[in-house]
Amino acid sequence: IRVAIVFGGRSPEHAISCVSAGSILGALDPDEYETVPVGITREGQWVLTDGSREHLAISGGELPEITAGSGAAVVLPGDPTANGLMVVDAADGTRALGDVDVVFPVLHGAYGEDGTIQGLLEMAGIPYVGANVFASAAAMDKEFTKKLAVSEGIPTGPYVVLRAGQSLSATDREKLKLPVFVKPARAGSSCGITKVDDWADLDEAVATARAIDPKVLIEEGITGREVECGVLEGEYDGTPEASLLAEIRVQGDHDFYDFEAKYLDGSSEYDIPANLPPEVSRQVQEYACRTFAALDCAGLARVDFFVTPELDIYLNEINTMPGFTSTSMFPRMWAATGLEYPKLVSRLIRTALR
Ligand code: DAL
Ligand code: MG
Repeated sequence: IRVAIVFGGRSPEHAISCVSAGSILGALDPDEYETVPVGITREGQWVLTDGSREHLAISGGELPEITAGSGAAVVLPGDPTANGLMVVDAADGTRALGDVDVVFPVLHGAYGEDGTIQGLLEMAGIPYVGANVFASAAAMDKEFTKKLAVSEGIPTGPYVVLRAGQSLSATDREKLKLPVFVKPARAGSSCGITKVDDWADLDEAVATARAIDPKVLIEEGITGREVECGVLEGEYDGTPEASLLAEIRVQGDHDFYDFEAKYLDGSSEYDIPANLPPEVSRQVQEYACRTFAALDCAGLARVDFFVTPELDIYLNEINTMPGFTSTSMFPRMWAATGLEYPKLVSRLIRTALR
């Protein structure tokens, strides 16, 4: 099976995508899979890479990055009748890889996890791992995720949306209790998120979020534990299946589970399975599967919740291409559930080809 792994990309999560892709490339059995590692630079140029793991790892706090370099290639939607993604070697302009069986878009955030590449692949007629155009776009956008989830009876916390140019009205401010979390509507890995304890700091936090997305969410902080659930599309009839849950415990002086705590300083610890009463765990798993279905997801997703001391459950968000590094929660939760990393990757590819 010929798999194109596409990674990097134009979002602030470029580096995390590279690390996720490095782990996936390392897990594919070469006897079964031929891989075509396609990197996308921060500027959006597509390049054929060697896919070597040492270029795709965080080392000494340095994040990996795809650069145009020498062996540049361009990838274009080719002739759909020939199953067509065309990867053309920029050096001689001829090498066309038109026979990729499936694409694994290991892209996090904008231009990749948001329906854009999914649209390109639909147009080119190539099977791909993960959610389709609509589900990707809906799940990327924290406003629409909440709206769809609420309509299915899944609890979410109080929030206000600020569209481009809007600021928080006095009435809206009264609706929200401090602290609030100010978030770009469409981003991941906690990029652009600020915890605000004093309304005097709101404007700066909104500006930080707006540097990533003109639409911003102001969410009331929920005092609770961070609990995550992996969901896979069922192998037989597509019914979503939930993994064991993980609880993240952020140590040290982090205010919340931010980018550093996620990837850089090893300060987050976790419990798998999360130490929750069984009926609460079952309810989280049920909400996770219901969120997956409510958004029409496919393949995989990680659904994140808060569980309060009173054991109330609130949806935080859903990720249709969750972090896939060897230390990421999604593969760890599935390993604990009995599906080891290489089997998980194979299952996703098989599901895409079904
Ligand atoms: N957005 C990051 C990669 C995650 O959800 O794991
Ligand atoms: Mg996310």
